[in-house]
Amino acid sequence: MDKLVIEGGKPLSGTIRIHGAKNAALPIMAASLLADGEVRLLNVPRLLDIEVMLGILSRLGCDTSREDEEVVIDSSKANSFHVPEDLMKQMRSSIFLMGPLLARFGEVCIYQPGGCAIGERKIDLHLYGLEALGATIEETGSQIRCTANKLTGTDIHLDFPSVGATENIMMAAVLAEGTTIITNAAREPEIQDLQHFLNQMGAQVIGAGTDTITIRGVKKLGACEYEILPDRIVAGTVLIAAAATRGSVILTNCNPSHLVSLLHVLRRAGIQIRAYDDIINVNGLTRPKVVERIVTSPYPAFPTDLQSQVMVLLSLAEGTSIIKETVFEGRFKHVDELVRMGADITVDLYTAIVRGVPRLFGATVEATDLRAGAALVIAGLAAQGKTTVEQVHHIDRGYERIEDLFQSLGASVYRESPLIKQLDPA
Ligand code: UD1
Repeated sequence: MDKLVIEGGKPLSGTIRIHGAKNAALPIMAASLLADGEVRLLNVPRLLDIEVMLGILSRLGCDTSREDEEVVIDSSKANSFHVPEDLMKQMRSSIFLMGPLLARFGEVCIYQPGGCAIGERKIDLHLYGLEALGATIEETGSQIRCTANKLTGTDIHLDFPSVGATENIMMAAVLAEGTTIITNAAREPEIQDLQHFLNQMGAQVIGAGTDTITIRGVKKLGACEYEILPDRIVAGTVLIAAAATRGSVILTNCNPSHLVSLLHVLRRAGIQIRAYDDIINVNGLTRPKVVERIVTSPYPAFPTDLQSQVMVLLSLAEGTSIIKETVFEGRFKHVDELVRMGADITVDLYTAIVRGVPRLFGATVEATDLRAGAALVIAGLAAQGKTTVEQVHHIDRGYERIEDLFQSLGASVYRESPLIKQLDPA
């Protein structure tokens, strides 16, 4: 298993271009199954999860190819609605295939993706939405089979604005007969990206970005070219890393309006931020100030996907901050590792009390999930001495070679993989 070795204590400095968003690319790739023709996607990040989705699409019979950040998916020869269990287990996001496969074949067979490191992650809202559109759902052990002679538009109210459920319902409803209205829909920018993509293929969807999305069913969707939006979580991670190392960084190809809640927190922490068009300039030249309370919640509130990273920054602040996690129940796994690096944090169920310390110290720590891993890299960059982050494959799911990203900003970080070690024991 790969490790990252970081020699910390250097302020980050320079300019970095933000890659495309994993959380937008994955549902859009799944939605390509709806097109009667070739879909060309631009700005697709080179990530483990994206490779897994491409692998699943080819197992379903699609022709797929990739060159740099361009991915082409031709699903005209897709011939299977059965997502194999081993692939479901590899990536939870394979759940996104449910809506498109049901709309295309009138049948889909998947497996419970199960829980994961950050929480139980139920799919009841996905199933509720598909059932409302006319699907029959049979669960046998971990297998879930959905069938529908036809899908019919209807009103669907979500008890919680689940991102994945909103996307699955949108993808199933675009080819349904009649109009579907989703209320209490998730409002994340990735939902807007999916709407734009579906409309580019010929769908009629309006309202994404608000809590009410209206989908007027159409008979057929066609070929298109689409550019994936920039990754706001990667951008946020870099902003926090720059602030935590008291560096000065310019981010390009990012959308400041997708990061309003983070930029607000950073400004409250005394970090200088200037944002214009698709550029953000961050300066963290002094010790961060305390931010009394951060509560994670669905967009546009503070994102759960940046909670662990911001905790690192606040663990270096002057004073005590409170962070409350309300989206996923298992999202404090990084705390024990940060404490091993000298942080002073205690957790009471879903609330972390973060008492700022003047500095963190390098240690060997383990990434337990994607964003927790990114937080540990930030901690290593800010800490005094050497940090080794183990289980880097979690981080590779969402960041394109994170070591290259931070090296280009002057950090001393390199990857140690077992093969390189064998060849060069020094
Ligand atoms: C997506 C993002 C993930 C982000 C999350 C919340 C992708 C690929 N992943 O995940 O990075 O952290 O949004 O912003 O886009 N829930 C139910 N029943 C359901 C569905 C969800 O109870 O049927 C609960 C979940 O257990 C969780 C909460 O709703 O507690 C949020 O989940 P959801 O918004 O669905 O997140 P994902 O789509 O899985």
